[in-house]
Amino acid sequence: MSIFSELTEGLPRQAPGSASATLRALGLVRGLPTRPRILDVGCGPGAQTVELARATGGWIVAVDIRQRFLDELTERAAAAGILPQVTTVNTSMFEMDFADASFDLIWSEGAIYIQGFAAGLAAWRQFLKPGGWLAVSELTWLVPDPPSEAAEYWARNYPGMGSIERNCQIVAEAGYVSMDGFVLPVQDWWNNYYQPSERRVEELREKYADDRDALATLEETSREHDLFRAYHDAYGYVFYVMRNPPA
Ligand SMILES: C[S@@+](CC[C@H](N)C(=O)[O-])C[C@H]1O[C@@H](n2cnc3c(N)ncnc32)[C@H](O)[C@@H]1O
Repeated sequence: MSIFSELTEGLPRQAPGSASATLRALGLVRGLPTRPRILDVGCGPGAQTVELARATGGWIVAVDIRQRFLDELTERAAAAGILPQVTTVNTSMFEMDFADASFDLIWSEGAIYIQGFAAGLAAWRQFLKPGGWLAVSELTWLVPDPPSEAAEYWARNYPGMGSIERNCQIVAEAGYVSMDGFVLPVQDWWNNYYQPSERRVEELREKYADDRDALATLEETSREHDLFRAYHDAYGYVFYVMRNPPA
């Protein structure tokens, strides 16, 4: 197993988030049909997929390229009694070939950055019915002039990170309307994501005490935690909720 897999396997979420943030974002989506058709892009182990299935009673197609995450999602969905509502699809977000206008809602927590915020919004819109909704969470600068240590770190690790203003502009340019959203609370980074990850880093430091490459990877992960501890006022995850214009 790679060090990356060991760092991430079995963690409750693979990005900042929480059940309450998922439900808050869902609350900004208005007028869904009963049993909506939902596409969850980059679903990971599916904490949000299960919440969406429970809250909407809908049918969810959950897409990811890591089969072990899809297997974790299947286990969670079975435990939650919503397995019949979920179909997992092992494919890349770049290669999705669903029918045009086939979903009422597209969801993606912490994953649109892989395609790029602008490119993902533009490419995924074809799958939405007229009047359908899209909700994504995205790492975002919260201040115009972030501290240099944070700016340098994220320039290396996510050079495409935009500000809220820039991302709202991108949403409008991609043709969406009714834009709304919120910044994820700081505890949504720690409770389900960084704290379990910190515990995992400590375990793996012992296991890989003699492996210089593995220790460097663990050090970089810790650095990300420390950076957020110091600079969480400067950047955060923002949920962006928007609508494909009705016909
Ligand atoms: C940061 S994680 C977020 C996972 C989940 N949404 C969550 O919040 O826990 C990003 C996810 O995107 C998946 N991913 C990476 N590249 C992908 C691709 N090209 N197509 C689809 N999913 C991809 C990863 O396997 C991972 O599960």
